[in-house]
Amino acid sequence: MANERPPDTDRVVSPSLRVEDGANEQSLRPRSLSEYIGQERVVENLRVFLDAARGRGEAMDHVLLYGPPGLGKTTLANVIANEMSVSIKVTSGPAIERPGDLAAVLTNLQKGDILFIDEVHRLSRMVEEVLYPAMEDYALDVVIGKGPAARIIRLNLPRFTLVGATTRIALMTSPLRDRFGVTYRLDFYSEPAMASIVRRSADILSVPIDEAGVREIASRSRGTPRVANRLLKRVRDYAQVRGRGVIDADIAQRALALLEVDALGLDTSDRRVLVTLVDKFDGGPVGLDTLAAALNEDGDTIQDVYEPYLIQLGFLERTPRGRVATRRAYEHIDRAWDEARAAQASLF
Ligand SMILES: Nc1ncnc2c1ncn2[C@@H]1O[C@H](COP(=O)(O)OP(=O)(O)O)[C@@H](O)[C@H]1O
Ligand SMILES: [Mg+2]
Repeated sequence: MANERPPDTDRVVSPSLRVEDGANEQSLRPRSLSEYIGQERVVENLRVFLDAARGRGEAMDHVLLYGPPGLGKTTLANVIANEMSVSIKVTSGPAIERPGDLAAVLTNLQKGDILFIDEVHRLSRMVEEVLYPAMEDYALDVVIGKGPAARIIRLNLPRFTLVGATTRIALMTSPLRDRFGVTYRLDFYSEPAMASIVRRSADILSVPIDEAGVREIASRSRGTPRVANRLLKRVRDYAQVRGRGVIDADIAQRALALLEVDALGLDTSDRRVLVTLVDKFDGGPVGLDTLAAALNEDGDTIQDVYEPYLIQLGFLERTPRGRVATRRAYEHIDRAWDEARAAQASLF
């Protein structure tokens, strides 16, 4: 089984799952739609969709969830299963290597079950071919025998719901995309939503925190719940060791400065992307591969991990001719320089 971890996982602001998230990731995960904070448009649509399916007493249509990592796709898949009171089988695109692997998963499903395929854009073409009739007709075509004597028999599958998740919808083939009844895009969370998430997590973890502390962590978490939960835990450690255990604005600011996470939630790697774009390429446009080579990073990592939030902040644009740094990016870098100089000066 392909066991790849995104290469940015050593960053405290990484939106990808890290080992330290492990145990808490489960306890912090909302279980029902009413616990699921933010993403109002998606939640509202999903509520209607779930109510309709429940009303008809049928399995739901297939659901595709997409958006940057750490925003709640896996959480939402589990919420859907809970709301429908059905069980969920979890797998991922890279884990299903051969058509036989998928056939084994499909034939183990019970009526109404949810099959969750994470990173669904990474299914191979051959596996996808097996998935199409399964999604459309709840059927599995099995080839018996070899050569001229080979024949195909069609097995019936129970009615199930496929929930697919992807960070890269553009890499999905259109036949696969078209077979999902509904598609929901998750966006970066608003600041009030992030604050609610920090409050909720602090409550579950029994971390004492005041409102200013909540805002400090919420505003630096890149609109990403997974990052908020991780920063909260790091700041809690700092409060315990360097403070009196309570998180306030001062403790949060000092802890996050130590982690080199700035006021916008950018860390040294993000700043390196911006500075490289500005200094080496005069702000662009520069092609992704060239930028990746200059940063000694993988193009996919830049595209999946760094760019979405920089684009969200309005610091970077993807144009047909390449990546471009915006005026706001220049201003941010200048401000960071001024602050660094001021900090230096204060030492003398
Ligand atoms: N809407 C939400 N409200 C509260 N916490 C959330 C929400 N969405 C995600 N989280 C938290 O963020 C973590 C990461 O979410 P996850 O579903 O694993 O993201 P993804 O699958 O999109 O990478 C979860 O463990 C959960 O604690
Ligand atoms: Mg996930």
